[in-house]
Order: sequence, then C-alpha cells, then structure tokens
Amino acid sequence: MDSLENILNRTSIRKYTDRQIADEDLHRILEAGMAGPSCVNSRDWSFLVVRDRETLNKMAEANGRPAQPLKSAATGILVCGDLNRSFQGAPDYWIIDCSIAVQNMILAAHALGIGSVWLGTWPQMDRVKKQRELFGLPEQIVPHSVIAFGYPAEEKERKGFYEEDRVHYEKW
Ligand SMILES: Cc1cc2nc3c(=O)[nH]c(=O)nc-3n(C[C@H](O)[C@H](O)[C@H](O)COP(=O)(O)O)c2cc1C
Repeated sequence: MDSLENILNRTSIRKYTDRQIADEDLHRILEAGMAGPSCVNSRDWSFLVVRDRETLNKMAEANGRPAQPLKSAATGILVCGDLNRSFQGAPDYWIIDCSIAVQNMILAAHALGIGSVWLGTWPQMDRVKKQRELFGLPEQIVPHSVIAFGYPAEEKERKGFYEEDRVHYEKW
C-alpha cells in the first residue's frame, strides 16, 4: 500500500473478528513501532504484548470504559516509556517518543489489513496506576497507551477531514 494512502485511509477500528494476528505480522507492527524517531535516538519505549483473553479483559478494565474494544481484540499492546532510557536533558520527550511509536504501529497494522484503536492511558493517572499494578511494572516503566488490534468486524469509511481554516501561511 502506498504510504500516503495508508495514512489518509486509516481509521480506528473497535470491533474485531476472532482471528488472531500472525506472529510475523505482530513482529512487523512492533518493528514499525521501533522504527520511529525518538529524542536523541533514546528509544525510550518498551512494548508489552498480550494475547491471553483473560489478561486482555483485565487490561480493558484497567484502562476504563473507553477501552472496551480490547475485550474483543485479538492482541493488545501496552506501550510504555522507559524513564531510565529517556534523554536526561528533557526527560518528558518520552511521551512524544511513545506517541510516535503508537502512530507507527497503528499505521503498520492498517497496511497489513489489521484494524486497531489507540486507547489512551497516560496522563490519566488512575489508568497508569492500574496498568502498573496489573503487570507489576518496574518503577521506571510508565504505561503510555494501549493499542487494541484485530481483524475488522466493522466497515468504516474515512470521511473528509481536511480543514482549511486550521492552516496559516506565512503569518497567523
Ligand atoms: C491519545 C489518544 C487516546 C485515545 N483514547 C481512546 C480510547 O480510550 N477509546 C477509544 O475508543 N478511542 C480512543 N482514541 C481514538 C480516537 O477516538 C480516534 O483516533 C478519533 O476519534 C479519530 O478517529 P480515527 O482514529 O478513526 O481517525 C484515542 C486516540 C488518541 C490519539
């Protein structure tokens, strides 16, 4: 798939079939996550892959009501920042680095015909705390986002989203 077409046609998918994602596709998605830019190339993220149904359900509960799509997802990935790796001159860049990884992963999934939705965790600290507890994460590992993946069980068309009034040329 052409990469621009991929970006323009991606949309969040929240309903999935029972089909599991092949290991090689999961690997491609993780690879895409790790292919993004990161501040001073700190690569300050880690990925926790979950396929066990019971754990996916617990992961959904930990992320609150908007994370219901995880309950029918084939695979969930908890994207985490690793504060021990982040750029010490401006440690908050870990948040941006993780966001880039998430975006790359959902785009990779779309290119592979796999649906996904980004489920925000950080900075909702109740969700951060619950994901931490669920997975017994070390202190320096901060849950940033969950991504639910699965083959689409819904059809969605990308609506026009370009807004000319959001763009300013040369001056505000
Ligand atoms: C930081 C962030 C957090 C999000 N959290 C949720 C969520 O908890 N539940 C959900 O269903 N969608 C969530 N989304 C997906 C957005 O709702 C979705 O991207 C937006 O409505 C635009 O739709 P689209 O992805 O189809 O373009 C999140 C997206 C982002 C970027």
